[in-house]
Amino acid sequence: MTRSSAPGKVYLFGEHAVVYGEPAVLCAIERRARVGVEPRDDGRLRVHAEDLSLDGFTVEYGASAGDRPDVDVSESLVTAATQYVDSAIEHVRDVTGDEETGFDVTIESDIPLGAGLGSSAAVAVAAIDAGTRALGTTLESDELAERAYRTEYEVQDGQASRADTFCSATGGAVRVEGDDCRSIEAPDVPIVIGFDGGAGDTGELVSGVRSLREEYEFAADTVETIGDLARNGEDALTADDLEEAGRLMNFNHGLLSALGVSSRSLDTMVWAARDAGALGAKLTGAGGGGCIVTLDPTPETETALSFTPGCEEAFRAGLAETGVERLE
Ligand code: MEV
Repeated sequence: MTRSSAPGKVYLFGEHAVVYGEPAVLCAIERRARVGVEPRDDGRLRVHAEDLSLDGFTVEYGASAGDRPDVDVSESLVTAATQYVDSAIEHVRDVTGDEETGFDVTIESDIPLGAGLGSSAAVAVAAIDAGTRALGTTLESDELAERAYRTEYEVQDGQASRADTFCSATGGAVRVEGDDCRSIEAPDVPIVIGFDGGAGDTGELVSGVRSLREEYEFAADTVETIGDLARNGEDALTADDLEEAGRLMNFNHGLLSALGVSSRSLDTMVWAARDAGALGAKLTGAGGGGCIVTLDPTPETETALSFTPGCEEAFRAGLAETGVERLE
């Protein structure tokens, strides 16, 4: 079996606005999705997943798209995870020119699904990397990021930026503005995450912002202001000014709330973190539920969040210096 892993990520600044070409700043975190791929000669695609914050599941597809059985998908997140693998495998076929080989794909992940930590991007990156290597091709990081981006774009009906997939493929701290994706120097950021146990629907949340932006000038201005915040946030980070970065994260959360993508539990965790002395706290990713990201070099925020009603898990997340890792 050929195995690759790829990290999750947090947005320090700029989610949603990045979809409209504004800059965003992200950090890869040491929570990973690991994907194993074993070629099979009957052309079938079999996906087995564990540890996706859901009961493990197995889905088997036929050799051709028309041959797919109905998947019993009481869990819409399971469907989503399977779609990412399905689309990633199409990219493996496209890169290698091999349309015949089937695959057993095994996913293990310690990134909760749909919670703003980039689980789908990490699965897409790791699946494409492992799948292409299983057929004898090793992709450069840029092509891997591009293919993983297209996977997200296809599954999310054209509503994806390059940010999540570039960050997962590359690791470290990154800045993304439209097609311009680059690594940036950032200090050792003291990231603490709060997770409410839930998930948001990225497609719906992105559509909601799109509608608001079309209807109200204030919403279009808000999206642009988030871009300005991300520019200032990047400056604060590269100057190692965590207090200023935290202040800007607080503004960013307020603007995301105005765009309707926060939730009661995310707001509750944000306020608990601020009350505990976090330098800054905001939702991360699409929102609607899932995770917040906070900056705090002390243990206070993690402790306070672990006692906050509605916070299912609080943990410190180290920066993942490397993106995709080739395990064997
Ligand atoms: C989702 O993790 C981040 C969004 O900005 C969508 C995207 O950039 O693809 C909401």
